[in-house]
Amino acid sequence: MGPGDLEKLLARLPEETAPRLLSSIRTGEDAGVYLLSEGLALVQTVDLFPPIVDEPYAFGQIAAANALSDVYAMGGKPLTALNILGYPCGLDLEVLEKILRGGQDKVHEAGAVIAGGHTLEDEELKYGLAVTGVVDPGKMTTIGGARDGDVLLLTKPIGTGILATALKAGLIAEGEMADAIESMRALNREAAEVLAGFRLHACTDVTGFGLAGHLYEMARASGASAEIWASQVPLFERTLEMVSMGMVPEGQSRNRANVKDLELSRWEGDEKVIDCLFDPQTSGGLLAAVDPADSDIALGELRAGPCPRASAVGVVLQQSPRRLSVRRGGSA
Ligand code: CO
Ligand code: CO
Repeated sequence: MGPGDLEKLLARLPEETAPRLLSSIRTGEDAGVYLLSEGLALVQTVDLFPPIVDEPYAFGQIAAANALSDVYAMGGKPLTALNILGYPCGLDLEVLEKILRGGQDKVHEAGAVIAGGHTLEDEELKYGLAVTGVVDPGKMTTIGGARDGDVLLLTKPIGTGILATALKAGLIAEGEMADAIESMRALNREAAEVLAGFRLHACTDVTGFGLAGHLYEMARASGASAEIWASQVPLFERTLEMVSMGMVPEGQSRNRANVKDLELSRWEGDEKVIDCLFDPQTSGGLLAAVDPADSDIALGELRAGPCPRASAVGVVLQQSPRRLSVRRGGSA
């Protein structure tokens, strides 16, 4: 569901509040956080979706990396995961085995274990996981802490929705989006570890709402504005080419429509780039609001380490009226 519809739906339900519930669905937190004892909180999240690549093992890895990502976005450590598998009647068991094996291997790489799961017959194949982890509430990162002047670091390139659409349409082969597949199956763990060493004010992972959509949510939750430096947003190979061929996924226009205070007046570049900013991502990177005094060195460590294509893609601004603006370039 798009962010706008989701907000409307949640508004129809009583708000969930409890003294030990430290996160709020309303502020768009990545995971539920529940205080267990002093210094220890439970982090819970769930995600599932239909295949976005043809290779079942890779799909399993991607689904798991994506589900685990919300725990990393909040600075947590995953402990257990439950499989959720919907499968069409008669589907080859070998395919299901490969999907689950991909998920299991990725969960092990994260240092967590598969604690169980659930299967159901479904018209369309779907796989995902419910992940449980822990976080120190005093050190957890939320989406709402961004401050004036914070530099926005993005740890992975953009374009997985566009490329998956092109793959489905037969315009590219799986081998031609190898960089995107590699990226989608990479855990955000090490990126989160690097960022935890700096003054990190807010963090979220870039998934279905697209880079601009998630940044908009961060800005709103933080009571701030934000500016995207479009020319510094890293894209996967062939992403722009596929946009020019009309390969824009369904969720893209929905994501764009949700950002009501979008200012493009300072954007004199290609409209295709704006399409990329709203491209729904699967297992995207972390979007981190980092203190400007730390951002250069944090970016350097990310690039030299787990995220060679990490980039400073914008800045948080306190200005009125609050809005999300896009300009060509910029610097901290
Ligand atoms: Co998330
Ligand atoms: Co999620």
